Amino acid sequence: MKPEIGVCYYPEHWPEAQWATDAALMVASGISWVRIGEFAWSRIEPTPDTFNWAWLDKAIAVLGQAGLKIVLGTPTATPPRWMLKKYPDMLAVDANDQPRKFGSRRHYDFSHQAYREESVRICEILAKRYGDNPHIAFWQTDNEYSCHDTTLSYSAAALAGFRSWLAERYEDIDALNQAWGNIFWSMDYADFADIELPNLTVTEANPSHWHDFRRYSSAQVQVYNTAQVNAIRRYDASTPILHNYMGRITDFDHFAVGQDLDAASWDSYPLGFLEDRLEADAEWKQAFMRQGDPDFQAFHHDLYRAVGRGRWWVMEQQPGPVNWAPYNPAPLKGMVRLWGWEAIAHGAEVVSYFRWRQAPFAQEQMHAGLLRPDSEPAPALTEVKQLAADLAAFPEDTKTHQTAPVAIVFDYESAWTWDTQPQGKHFDYFALVFEQYRALRKLGLSIDICPPDTEDFSAYQLVLVPGLMHWKHELKAHLKTCAGAVLLGTRTGSKSADFSIPQQMPPDCPELIELKVTHVESLRPDVAIPLENGGSVCHWREYMEPGAGVKTLLATEDGEPVLLQQGNVHYLGAQLDETAYRRTMKLLCEQGGISTVDLPKGLRLRQWGDKVVAMNYSLDTIDLRPFKDFVELDVAELPPAGVAFSL
Ligand code: GAL
Repeated sequence: MKPEIGVCYYPEHWPEAQWATDAALMVASGISWVRIGEFAWSRIEPTPDTFNWAWLDKAIAVLGQAGLKIVLGTPTATPPRWMLKKYPDMLAVDANDQPRKFGSRRHYDFSHQAYREESVRICEILAKRYGDNPHIAFWQTDNEYSCHDTTLSYSAAALAGFRSWLAERYEDIDALNQAWGNIFWSMDYADFADIELPNLTVTEANPSHWHDFRRYSSAQVQVYNTAQVNAIRRYDASTPILHNYMGRITDFDHFAVGQDLDAASWDSYPLGFLEDRLEADAEWKQAFMRQGDPDFQAFHHDLYRAVGRGRWWVMEQQPGPVNWAPYNPAPLKGMVRLWGWEAIAHGAEVVSYFRWRQAPFAQEQMHAGLLRPDSEPAPALTEVKQLAADLAAFPEDTKTHQTAPVAIVFDYESAWTWDTQPQGKHFDYFALVFEQYRALRKLGLSIDICPPDTEDFSAYQLVLVPGLMHWKHELKAHLKTCAGAVLLGTRTGSKSADFSIPQQMPPDCPELIELKVTHVESLRPDVAIPLENGGSVCHWREYMEPGAGVKTLLATEDGEPVLLQQGNVHYLGAQLDETAYRRTMKLLCEQGGISTVDLPKGLRLRQWGDKVVAMNYSLDTIDLRPFKDFVELDVAELPPAGVAFSL
C-alpha cells in the first residue's frame, strides 16, 4: 500500500461553518486521513450520562463526505471536570505524595478501578455509535500513555493494586523476602499488607522493590489499554485500533501494550526532542537546531515498526515551532518534507501532521500548525503538498519494506533496571542503545529493532543485544539462529529476574560465550581510556575473565580487553567514544558480511523497499559522488534538507 498523509484536527475548536472549507483544503493539499476526538470528552458528555452527539455526527459526516478517512480517538486522556466530583481519588499522585490536579490533561491514575470502568463505558458508547460508520477507518486509544510522566503513580489505588499484584506474583511473603534480599537492612516483611510504595524512603529503597513496582505500573498501562480495546471490539469487530506512543518513553512495555493493537503510531517532534530529550553537546544542538537529530526519529520509526509488528504510522509530525521545549526554533525550509520522507523510508503507512490550524487560545497557542490562526497557510503546508506530490510520482504497488541487515534487541524492562541502578550519573539504557544505533546509521545501514521475545534471527547478518539486563524468553537459544555476528554488552546479563547479580556472574551466558565480568567501574564524563590503535573507553568499563576459547579483538592501552569474540558471538565490555564505536561496528559488519560506508555529518540513508532514500540533515550541500559504489543516487549533490532516491 502506498504511504499516505494525514492531519490532526479539532472540529470542536472551530465554528461549524468552517469545517467544510477545512476539509476541502485538506483534500486539495493531498491529505487523506484526519484524526479527531481524542480530547473531546467534555463536549461529547457535558454532564454525566447526557450526550451531545450532534456536533460529532456532523463533523464526521463533513470530513468523511469530503473524502477523508477518519481516526477517532477515545477521549480518555482528558476526563471532564465532573468526573473528579464522582471520583476525587482518581488523580495520579507524584513521588512527593502530591496529587496531580485537574487543569491540564492526563489527570488520572491507571490503577483507579472506577476510572478504568468509566473509560470502558465511554469507549463502548463511542464504538456502538460509530463502529459501523463508513468514515471511521481507525480507532486510537487514549493519547500518549505516559506523557507528562504519568505511568508511575503513588496513589492509594496504586498501593492497593501493587500489594495484590505482589501477593499474586509471590504467593508467600517469605518468597518475596527471599527474592528481594530483604534480610539486608532488616527489611523483612511479615505480610503483603505491610509493603508500601518505594517512594519517600530515607535513602534508596531496595532495587527489587522498585523493579517490581515498575513492572506493576507497566502492567497497569497494558491492562487499561486492553480494557479500551475490548470495549471497542464489543461493538466494532473490524475497524483497526492503534495508540500514539511518544519519543524516548520507556516507563511501560510498549511491546506488551502493542500486542492488543493492530498497528502502532508515534508522535514525532524532531526539534523539540533535540532540545528536550537528547544528550548532545551545544555544538551538535546548534548544528541541528532547525533539522533535528539525524538519528532520533529514525530510531523511533524502527522501534514502533516493531511495536506495531510491521504496521505503524507517525500520528503527529511537527510542522513548525512547538511550544514545549526549552527553545522552539522554526524548521529549516524543506525539513517538514524530509521528516515525512524519513518516516516513509522506514515503512510508515501514514505520516500525519499535528495540527491543522494553530489554536489562538489555551496552552498550545504558540504551537504551529499547517495553517496560521487566521487560516492562511503556514510554511509547513507547502511542504506537505510537496510530499504529496512526491508520493504521487510513485506507483501504487511500490515496495515499502525490506528486512534490514542489522537487528538491535530493545527491552523496556532493561530500561527500568538501568534507571533503578545506573551505577553512574546520567547512565541510561536508551542512551546506550541509541549510541550503538547511531554508529550503525553513520555507516549507511538500515536497522530493525526487535523485541526480546524474537525467536528467529536468521534473516540478520548482525544482531546487537546492548544492555539487556537479564536474559528472558529463551533469547540465548534464539540468538543461535543468527548465522552472522552477534554482539552482547555492555551490562548484558548482569542481573537475575529478581534484580541480583547472577550466580554464574555476568554476562550469564556460557552457552554463547565463556566469559565472566568480574567487576565494573563507571567513569567521570571527562575521563577517556585510550584503546590500542584509536578511540577510547568512556563512562563505563568492565573487567573480564575470558575463557580459553575467547579471543581479544580490541583492548585498551593499559592492557584490558574491551571486545571479545568466541565464534560468531562477541562481548563488548565498555562504553565507547564515537571513533571506537565506529571501529567496533565496522569490525562486526565485516564479520557479518555487511558492506558499509563512512557518511559525512548529517547524511543518512535508509532502504525503502527496493529503493534507498538519502536525506541531508546538515546545513551544507553534500557531494554524493564519493558514495556511488555504495549506492547510486538520482542526483550528484544534495542541498540542505534535500531528499534523493537510488536509481
Ligand atoms: C503531543 C500531544 C498533542 C500535542 C502535541 C504538541 O505530545 O499528543 O496533543 O500536545 O504534543 O506538540
